[in-house]
Amino acid sequence: MVTSSAPGKVYLFGEHAVVYGEPAVPCAIERRVHVTATEIDEGLRIHANDLQLDGFTVEYSGDGESHPDVDVAESLVEAGMGYVNEAVAQARDAADAPEAGFEISVEGDIPLGAGLGSSAALVVAAIDAATRELGVELSASDIADRAYQVEHAVQDGQASRADTFCSAMGGAVRVEGDDCRRLEGIDTLPFVIGYDGGAGDTGALVAGVRDLRGKYDFAADTVAAIGDIVREGESVLGTGDYERLGELMDFNHGLLSALGVSSRSLDSMVWAARDADAHGAKLTGAGGGGCIVALDETDDALTALKYTPGCEDVFRAELDTDGVRQE
Ligand code: PMV
Repeated sequence: MVTSSAPGKVYLFGEHAVVYGEPAVPCAIERRVHVTATEIDEGLRIHANDLQLDGFTVEYSGDGESHPDVDVAESLVEAGMGYVNEAVAQARDAADAPEAGFEISVEGDIPLGAGLGSSAALVVAAIDAATRELGVELSASDIADRAYQVEHAVQDGQASRADTFCSAMGGAVRVEGDDCRRLEGIDTLPFVIGYDGGAGDTGALVAGVRDLRGKYDFAADTVAAIGDIVREGESVLGTGDYERLGELMDFNHGLLSALGVSSRSLDSMVWAARDADAHGAKLTGAGGGGCIVALDETDDALTALKYTPGCEDVFRAELDTDGVRQE
């Protein structure tokens, strides 16, 4: 029996624009998914009862088809099953053990589908745990690559390498197309995360930006300007100048908002953090609902968000310099 864990992430800069070849900087956070893999005679059994979907317990065995007795958030649960199924297929492939059976247990404290990279963390941890259980130790970059293949398969070809690479490597990373690397020397970033309890529809939001970009030159310019913010932000990151980083986060949020991917609750959480003197705040991930990330080393934004209508949960989540690891 092997347990591995992998971190979730926030986008410090660059979501959406990364779809059009601009760079992005996701950062791993100290919120993890833990996956325990135990080899069994045959098949696949999955237990996942703590993925912040209140009250669901899933017992599943079989080949990734649908399963009974799921009464909440069925599509998210089904997607979770798909991710585990494909991750196990990658582990079997890596270990040259196509018939290996597994019992997989999943636990985590990352809200699902809310821009914090829960699915990538699940896939990365599952590949690591299952391959180790079969006696094979993959490098973090091999795991990142296999995890990307999984997301690509489960999400019908709509996946960037950002989440999976960040979760496997940890720390702050830079992703531009297939070129992914870790940004060295960045050890701490004081993130505060506000969560509205919802989730955006990534496919629809990405399609919305694509339409706007095709329709208006200024929308295409907006996407390109996000790329400029990322390049500027990268150079500021290593200096530890939180004032400027925050200013760039604010700017990034404004441009995402112009592209139509923010929401009333995301905007109100962003403003609550700014009013509490956070260095900066922005939505993270696809938008439409889900999470914002603020930069604040004091407890002021955290406290303000607790009392902000529309904010269901708020927590501090430091940059996690550790990627995937065996527990
Ligand atoms: O919501 P998330 O964490 O899956 O992020 C989506 C990021 C996008 O740039 C909008 C899409 C993508 O695949 O990069």
